[in-house]
Amino acid sequence: MELNRRTVIAGAAAAGIAASTLGGTAHATGGGTPSKKLFGTLADGTKVHSWSLSNGGTRLKVLSYGGIVQSLEIPDRHGRHANVSLGFDNLEDYVAKSPYFGALIGRFGNRIGKGRFTLDGKPHQIDVNDGENTLHGGSKGFDKRVWDVEPFTKGSDVGLRLYYTSADGEMGYPGTLRVKVTYTLTRHGDWRIDYEATTDKATVVNLTSHVYWNLAGEDSGTVYDHELKIAGSRYTPVDSGLIPTGELARVAGTPFDFRRAKTVGEDIRVAHQQLLYGQGFDHNWVLDKGITAAPVPVATLRDPSSGRTMTISTTEPGLQFYSGNFLDGTLVGSGGTVYRQGDALCLETQHFPDSPNKPSFPSTVLRPGQTYRTTTVHSFGR
Ligand code: GLA
Repeated sequence: MELNRRTVIAGAAAAGIAASTLGGTAHATGGGTPSKKLFGTLADGTKVHSWSLSNGGTRLKVLSYGGIVQSLEIPDRHGRHANVSLGFDNLEDYVAKSPYFGALIGRFGNRIGKGRFTLDGKPHQIDVNDGENTLHGGSKGFDKRVWDVEPFTKGSDVGLRLYYTSADGEMGYPGTLRVKVTYTLTRHGDWRIDYEATTDKATVVNLTSHVYWNLAGEDSGTVYDHELKIAGSRYTPVDSGLIPTGELARVAGTPFDFRRAKTVGEDIRVAHQQLLYGQGFDHNWVLDKGITAAPVPVATLRDPSSGRTMTISTTEPGLQFYSGNFLDGTLVGSGGTVYRQGDALCLETQHFPDSPNKPSFPSTVLRPGQTYRTTTVHSFGR
């Protein structure tokens, strides 16, 4: 049964039980001001802090480096917390070898073919870092930048505002991009991300978050038995370099059909050319709801063993479902766990990859005077 804290608290109130007696720990309800401590120091002497915040049963640790979610803990059906996101326990590993664990991604989520695009008739060559293509902004994307972090409490919400200014020409992108990302934990334990950006020259922007989810806990093996549902009737097939061909293909009758919940593992070994290119799922779903002013639920993930569930709602038109294909047993994570293929999955809300070269895709162009605004909400249940 899907039962979330909202339902539990409402039920408890009706039954005259104090909410604080539910969920086992004091953290289950408490908001409170986020606290920070030193996490490490970069080679250039810059100090990196780790921020801790909790609300509604969700506990979050965020680094000023990359806006990285270092851990996210939520309760299971018995009220037991586990860290459900892959990460490291030290800054050195994040700097040296992180495959974007928990990070903010920018300026441009996913790939841009050959790192090239033309905007208003002007060609741009951006930093190439994935074969002949650009991935997640370039070799020093927003995941490797130090953000200014400001804590806040607002009503029953607790959160962090993260600021980063990307200089004109950084990684080859035109325009000074001023970015503000707000992480909010609500009293229901939802984790909400609001992205905002402005520019002083026409540019392209596509921001997302790269948390690797394993709802059974980051140390519990593959996510192949997680049930996933995605409200997308089409996806964007790719070439061998994982660049979209431009086609919006129907998911019906293919392994890409997650319109009804099925396990991640059910079709992952089907000999389908697209799965071979990605070594599993590594594709953008075209969300049926399209771009919306307010977040709309688009995907649900459920781990039957713990009962934990996550629903993602977004204003964005696309969702990259990546099934952790490139984890290869060479990384030792936060709890001393060795991460192997399929040990987590990413659900990255976004505009479609390579949009700057695909005029038929929703536009990722941002112009001076406009404000880029998108929102994604992760709601947890058990
Ligand atoms: C994204 C990409 C994948 C991979 C991961 C990070 O999800 O689509 O191909 O690069 O990031 O390893």
